[in-house]
Amino acid sequence: MSATAVVGAQWGDEGKGKIIDVLAAEADMVVRGQGGNNAGHTVVTGGKKYALHLIPSGVLNPGTDNVIGNGVVLDPKGFFEEIETLSKDGADVSRIFVSDRAHLVFPYHKEIDKLNELAKGAFSIGTTQKGIGPCYEDKAARTGLRAGDMLRPERFAEKLTIRIDAANDKIVKLLGGDAIDKEAIVSEYVDYAKRLAPYITDTSVLVDEALKAGKRVLFEGAQGAMLDLDLGTYPYVTSSHPISGGFTIGSGVGGSVIDKVVGITKAYTTRVGAGPFVTELLDDTGDLIRERGHEYGTTTGRPRRCGWFDGVVVRYSARINGTTTTALMLLDVLDAFDEINLCYAYEHEGREIANFPADLELIEESKPLYRTVKGWKQDITACRTYDELPEAAKEYIAAIEEITGVPVGIISVGPGREQTIRR
Ligand code: GDP
Ligand code: IMO
Ligand code: MG
Repeated sequence: MSATAVVGAQWGDEGKGKIIDVLAAEADMVVRGQGGNNAGHTVVTGGKKYALHLIPSGVLNPGTDNVIGNGVVLDPKGFFEEIETLSKDGADVSRIFVSDRAHLVFPYHKEIDKLNELAKGAFSIGTTQKGIGPCYEDKAARTGLRAGDMLRPERFAEKLTIRIDAANDKIVKLLGGDAIDKEAIVSEYVDYAKRLAPYITDTSVLVDEALKAGKRVLFEGAQGAMLDLDLGTYPYVTSSHPISGGFTIGSGVGGSVIDKVVGITKAYTTRVGAGPFVTELLDDTGDLIRERGHEYGTTTGRPRRCGWFDGVVVRYSARINGTTTTALMLLDVLDAFDEINLCYAYEHEGREIANFPADLELIEESKPLYRTVKGWKQDITACRTYDELPEAAKEYIAAIEEITGVPVGIISVGPGREQTIRR
């Protein structure tokens, strides 16, 4: 039994969707194990661009099973909207499975997410406002409702009624918001229950059967290591575990199953939302990266914060993920630069820091220590083999391998499937 995990090595939006789509051509099953429709995974194929949020990025490969595991929080409205868009675009949506243990996102989660952010003022996290944090809060508080609850619609409606009363109490009395319409939501969700029922199953069994049959299983990470609830830049994180370890809990498989971990890594760094970012560029260089990389959120449309490659982050991410291969993404974005900086360590009060620290203030006070390499100043989007890459680009890749300690096995030089170099 063996499987590959594909995880974001930075703060999300590294190009996971593209690589999952490429690798799914050789896989039988793609499994999501955490997050929800806060994710926005872009796949470009046949000249068409798809934005996936909840549905695994294997869906554009006919014949691939797509599993939404127990660790995912599922917004039924978003789920059906996505299915509809994909169907219209001609994708095969017949092989999608939803765990009976996946928690459900309700409108009150989104409302509480919004109001929490407002209440935090200057300290807001900049969430996607998809209700992700409040839904995981309910899960941890043992007051959540799961997809499996929908299989008994009457009992589900009773439970939901109680939950809405409790949520409205919080919304009105604690957060100063407007109560949500109980009857309308119960009726909307009873309808979803009927529509979702055919998708709901024990997906842990499905994944186990696939693995035992020797099928090729890919675990698709959402977000990125630095947004991990435990190991990311807390509290500026998401509420799940977007690292390789998150898949065992999030899809109900054992720890010995995953033997390859692909760390999806941008050739520079971006982040959406608040929180420390040592290599951030608040100047023309940062703007040029943003424009060349079209760095605007797939889910929220927000401009992404941009900066140089942060080797401290990616080295840390490799440790906590057990990364075996790096997929270096968006290398073509750097085609235009005379010189490129790579951060190999931080400096804090004259001290060099090699290991990403927990202390956010220390990170905020740190300066990046850079190694500068020459740019290649040529268009690499048509390169299809490693040998075709300019020498300076090869040197940049070698520097990243040295700083992070992980070999670069995949290089991406454009959004298309074919713009992928395997080494
Ligand atoms: P994900 O959340 O990790 O799946 O990443 P997103 O889809 O949010 O953002 C990655 C963006 O980069 C998308 O617009 C992709 O189409 C695009 N992309 C992926 N790989 C490459 C690449 O190698 N070069 C360029 N120029 N764009 C890429
Ligand atoms: P993909 O899978 C980038 C960020 C938000 C915010 C923080 C918490 O496309 O890489 P949340 O709504 O999860 O409570 O927000 O996490 N965030 C992401 N950033 N890519 C994502 O997903 C993200 N999902 C959440 O911007 O800073
Ligand atoms: Mg994204």
